[in-house]
Amino acid sequence: MSEQPQVHPVRDEFAANAWADKAQYEAMYQRSIEDPQAFWAEQAERLEWIKTPTRIKNTSFDRDNVDIRWFEDGELNVAANCLDRHLAHRGGETAIIWEGDDPADSRHITYAELYERTNQVANALKEMGVGKGDTVTLYMPMVPEAAMAMLACARIGAVHSVIFGGFSPDAIAQRVVGAQSRVIITADESVRGGKHVPLKDNVDAALTRDGTDVCEHVMVVKRTGGDIDWHDHRDTWFHTMVDKQALECPAETMNAEDPLFILYTSGSTGAPKGLKHTTGGYLTYASMTHQYVFDYKPGEVFWCTADVGWITGHSYIVYGPLANGGTTLMFEGVPTYPSHGRIGEIVDKHQVNILYTAPTAIRALMAHGDETMHSSHRDSLRLLGTVGEPINPEAWEWFYRVVGKERCPIVDTWWQTENGGIMIAPLPGAIDLKPGSATKPFFGVRPAVMDSDGNVLEGQAEGNLVILDSWPGQARSIWGDHERFVNTYFSTYDGVYFTGDGCRRDTDGDYWITGRVDDVLNVSGHRMGTAEIESALVAHDAVAEAAVVGYPHDIKGQGIYIYVTLTDDYEASDELKKELIQQVRKDIGPIASPDVIQWAPSLPKTRSGKIMRRILRKIAANECDGLGDISTLADPSVVDELIEHRANR
Ligand code: PRX
Repeated sequence: MSEQPQVHPVRDEFAANAWADKAQYEAMYQRSIEDPQAFWAEQAERLEWIKTPTRIKNTSFDRDNVDIRWFEDGELNVAANCLDRHLAHRGGETAIIWEGDDPADSRHITYAELYERTNQVANALKEMGVGKGDTVTLYMPMVPEAAMAMLACARIGAVHSVIFGGFSPDAIAQRVVGAQSRVIITADESVRGGKHVPLKDNVDAALTRDGTDVCEHVMVVKRTGGDIDWHDHRDTWFHTMVDKQALECPAETMNAEDPLFILYTSGSTGAPKGLKHTTGGYLTYASMTHQYVFDYKPGEVFWCTADVGWITGHSYIVYGPLANGGTTLMFEGVPTYPSHGRIGEIVDKHQVNILYTAPTAIRALMAHGDETMHSSHRDSLRLLGTVGEPINPEAWEWFYRVVGKERCPIVDTWWQTENGGIMIAPLPGAIDLKPGSATKPFFGVRPAVMDSDGNVLEGQAEGNLVILDSWPGQARSIWGDHERFVNTYFSTYDGVYFTGDGCRRDTDGDYWITGRVDDVLNVSGHRMGTAEIESALVAHDAVAEAAVVGYPHDIKGQGIYIYVTLTDDYEASDELKKELIQQVRKDIGPIASPDVIQWAPSLPKTRSGKIMRRILRKIAANECDGLGDISTLADPSVVDELIEHRANR
């Protein structure tokens, strides 16, 4: 990273029309930190409350008592905020533009239609006996029914747990058991890039696993009409169940701190954890960040290319845009199908104003050259955004120059599943852009840089990124395991939230996220734990020991590199490599497919038996000259052998 990054200053004409210019950002930020109670009491007014909250912030990061409550005496309903209150003014306007995998398929769904359909789904859930506090698992394609199902849960006070469609039956089973879901909503198949993915078959397979008999109903959206098995005692078609329902369904009165959803994400140890997000604070934060970070104006078309199975899809396909009465585009397919120009073509077709995507998608397009963008004009675009991983300046500049034609600011947004909404990003009318830097904190967010001894570093600094105080969108706990929540986020350093990311703060006070400092990988913006992949591998008889590390990958950001020590009964072979890849895909899903497998007669360990991952990361990155001190290894000769047979050169 160069010492003098290129700066793209805020343009005057953009600032003049933005929700916040520099002075407004600074004044509002100051107030949000000095008087969070008053600041967030005002911001809560952006929602419609059944009972207006009077207790605004009641939060403790103290490791002996981590307790996070926002608006705790307020009452509201999220679906009513996303639908009902818009009916009078914009019932006939488009809430969701759906673009199918096939470019010939698209649909506009108005607020009035979304309202009625959501109510019907809510009534169907009620008929299945789902009520306030019950959990519902969603394993769905990117179809409007996914948003309807989420909102329907919110309407009746049920808690949704959305599972990304790229996860395997084992991963589904784990989450269904974890959330104790009696109902799953899925589809026969999803369609991505012309290929069909057997969602219902995966659910069927999941429901043969231990503990999943908690699930009584599977409601199936007919997406393709493909062949599926049918189990009369638990399967129902979505359309048969939903079409017959009444168009009205009262919205349940929810406390601000009632759970809205569970979302599983990977950590550095153990199985994925279900983060618990609640109602009032989450929606206030999703709505406010959507408005300010994207400078969203009524009538604009907003397109977030994420999947609803991730937090980005929750907050910026569904809840943020709909709370703001916006038009949100939902795309079923992949950016490269049927051609690499698809993203631009969708922008033109639906006159998209704001495009929010991931660095990995940008790099994939960039690899095909500027011509990929020649099939579209993209003149409707006003703002671009990125999320999910650090963006390298080359990809940033390409996005800026080629996709946005040097007209559109880019907001590089740093945040996490745990955060609920964007935490660090340049408000486009307020903050100068630096390619590669997420720049400044959002209102109410107090980032700090800490050294490994827990000292807060001032000024220009490099270290671990922590957040000093709570913000309304924060996850409140891990579902069913508050102790794990405390241990994961509040025990590394007492009294602060530890993000797991490293960062650098420059002399302007801008933050540069450098990536995870723990054993979490970020592969194409998908987060996964090395421990999870290792445990999938050691479940195979051939594997005595496995170590998983990330290595730099041109398109994916990080690739998955695996060192495997075989048991005596097995011999290394290409066949076995395939089996091991299959094993990981089965346990976790295709998104965790290993890129490189190296056979390792043994792994570098300290004398106390700890694997030295630092060394394994260097070898995987093909940086074998700077291995540092290896004298503490039990057997330093292991390293030479691994270097000699390294698989990435
Ligand atoms: O390492 C950071 C990276 O993604 C992690 C969070 O992943 P997840 O919970 O799946 O949420 C992704 C989308 C909100 C972070 O700990 N990350 C996310 N955004 C950025 C980023 N790293 C650098 N720059 C970003 N803009």
